[in-house]
Amino acid sequence: MKVLVTGGTGYIGSHTVIELQQAGYEVIIIDNLSNSNIEVLDGIHKITGQYPIFEKFDICNSQDCNNFFSKYKGITAVIHFAAYKAVGESVEKPLMYYYNNLVSLLNLLDKILSHNINYLVYSSSCTVYGQPESLPVAENAPVQEAKSPYGNTKQISEEIIKDTIHANKKISCISLRYFNPIGAHPNGFIGELPIGEPNNLVPYITQTAYGIREYLRVFGNNYNTHDGTCIRDYIDVVDLSKAHIAALQRMLVHKNINNFEVFNLGAGKGYSVMEVVQCFEKVTGIRLKYKILNRRPGDIERVYADPQKANARLNWKATTSLDNSLLSAWNWEKYYRKKLNC
Ligand code: NAD
Ligand code: WQD
Repeated sequence: MKVLVTGGTGYIGSHTVIELQQAGYEVIIIDNLSNSNIEVLDGIHKITGQYPIFEKFDICNSQDCNNFFSKYKGITAVIHFAAYKAVGESVEKPLMYYYNNLVSLLNLLDKILSHNINYLVYSSSCTVYGQPESLPVAENAPVQEAKSPYGNTKQISEEIIKDTIHANKKISCISLRYFNPIGAHPNGFIGELPIGEPNNLVPYITQTAYGIREYLRVFGNNYNTHDGTCIRDYIDVVDLSKAHIAALQRMLVHKNINNFEVFNLGAGKGYSVMEVVQCFEKVTGIRLKYKILNRRPGDIERVYADPQKANARLNWKATTSLDNSLLSAWNWEKYYRKKLNC
C-alpha cells in the first residue's frame, strides 16, 4: 500500500517513514529540504535497508503537485508533516508562516480530492490548547486563541480540514496533537537537525553538553511549579511515529468514512526544565552548565496530556522513558557531530 509522507525527511517525518517501511508500507516522500537534509535518506536506508521514493519540491507549487500526482498513481493515504515550525520566527515573519503552512495544505487537499485519496493524517500541536484551565489536558478542552502565527496555522489547518471533510463525504482525517517530541532513533542514524541555534530544550541541552553552546539558558525559575521551572510532556519521537501508523490503521481497518478525529499524543506525565536537566546529567554523567534567565515571552507554565483517548482508540501508548529519550538524543548529537567533522 502506497503512503505519501510530506515533510518525510524532517525530524518526525523521517522517524515515521522508518515505522511505515517496517510495517510494510511503500513510502513516497515529498520534501523541499527547506529544513532537512537529503542525507536523511541514507540514515533511513541504514536502518530499514530500503530507500523511500523521494521527490524534492515545494508543496505550495500547485503545478509541481499536479505533476507529482500524475506520476504516482494509487496512493492510499497521506501523512502531512510539511510545515514551518519555529514559533519565534513565525512572530517575526507571519506571512511566510501563513503562506507556507496554509497554501501547502490547500494544495494538498485539492489534489487529495481530485485523486480520490480518502485518508489523511495531520500533524497538529498541543499549542492549540494554550494554557489549559485544568490538567492533564484532554481533546475536549477548548482551543484557545493562538499565541503565535505558527500556532494559528495549526488551528486554521484543523478548521480547513474539518470543512473539507464536511463537504466531501469520502474523506477522513486524524489530526494528531503532539506535545513535546524529543529523542532520536535508538539505532543512532537519524535524529533532529536544528538549523542554527536551537529553540527547543533538548537540542539546546545536547549542544551545550557537546560544547557548541556555552551554557543552557533556563528561561525562568519563578513559575508556580514545584521547582519554579516550566512543565512539559516530553514524548519520544519513535513512540510518536508509531502513533501515525496506528492512526492510519484505524482509518483503514474501520474504513473510516467522513470522520475528523483528534488525538493527543503525549506520555501523560509532566517534567520540569530542571528535572530534564538533572535526568540528562544522570544518564550521561555530564555536568551541564546552565544559567537562570528571565522568562521567555509566551511560555506556558505547565502543560501535559491526557493520552487516554489515544491509548484506548489507537491502541497506542508512549513507552520510552525520559532517560532513554535523552540518551538517544545525546547519542545522535555525538554521531552527527563526528560525521560533520569527517
Ligand atoms: P521539520 O522541520 O523537521 O520537518 C518538516 C519538513 O517539512 C522539513 O523537512 C521541511 O523541509 C519540509 N517542508 C516544509 N515546508 C515545505 C513545503 N512547503 N514543501 C515541501 N516540504 C516542506 O519539523 P518536525 O519537527 O518534523 O515537524 C513536523 C510537523 O509536526 C510539522 O507540521 C510541525 O508543525 C508539527 N509539530 C512539530 C512539533 C515539534 O516540536 N517538532 C510539535 C508539534 C507539531
Ligand atoms: C520547553 C521548556 C522553555 C529552551 C514548542 C512549541 C510548541 C511545540 C513544541 C510545535 C520551556 C524551556 C527551552 C531553552 C529553556 N511545537 N527552555 N531553555 O515551548 O514547550 O513548545 O515546541 O508545535 O508549539 O511552542 O518547547 O522545547 O522550546 O521549551 O529553558 O534553551 O524548556 O522555556 O519551558 P515548548 P521548548
